[in-house]
Amino acid sequence: MNDKQLVAIEAAKHVENGMLVGLGTGSTADLFIEELARRMKEDKLKCKVVSSSAASARKAGDLGLQLMEMADISHLDLYVDGADEVTPDLTLLKGRGADLVKEKLLAKAAGQFFVLIDQSKLVSRIGEKYPIPVEVPPFSWQLVKHGLENAGGKVVLRKKDDQPAVSSHGSWILDVTFEPRLDAATLDDLLNSTPGVVEHGIFRGLARGVFMAENGSVTQRWA
Ligand code: A5P
Repeated sequence: MNDKQLVAIEAAKHVENGMLVGLGTGSTADLFIEELARRMKEDKLKCKVVSSSAASARKAGDLGLQLMEMADISHLDLYVDGADEVTPDLTLLKGRGADLVKEKLLAKAAGQFFVLIDQSKLVSRIGEKYPIPVEVPPFSWQLVKHGLENAGGKVVLRKKDDQPAVSSHGSWILDVTFEPRLDAATLDDLLNSTPGVVEHGIFRGLARGVFMAENGSVTQRWA
């Protein structure tokens, strides 16, 4: 069993009968979905799920999980997702998978948000390994790019097969770096107050628990 499977199994132990569970996006979230499906079959666990992306919805549907539409819910019990970077104060960087709007909506609305990582995701500051993903509607990308460049950022439109990468609901993604690096609170405020930004990858004050696998064992950190 690999480290990502270990944290997925550990997090799935927290799911109880009757819960509405949010499904994240990415390779670790996929393993959590598989473990949830296993528990539903073998432990007769009864829960419903809501997905943060088309990819996770497809996987959940294929495995027979009972999917709710996000438009039909106003609260969920638990949201479980991976992350690209995690700092000691449990600030996260997310968004390599390009589905930030739904991910942050679910993380904020959930009673609890659990983050599943391996040791490679730990950083001392946000932006250490990756640029900050910023989701924009296609019509606003040039104006947002210009605005962030004026604030000192270097901005690259994310591409896939030579075309702009598109999120599940039609946004484009700008990958933004700042040199010298800004702290997460400053970046969060700047991006929150930039018109034309739909969402961005800094998740501050949202994670309740981080499950981290390291050499075959799982440690948990709680906010
Ligand atoms: C999805 O948009 C991302 O935030 C993922 O949660 C993040 O990239 C972690 O992915 P892995 O679990 O595949 O490492």
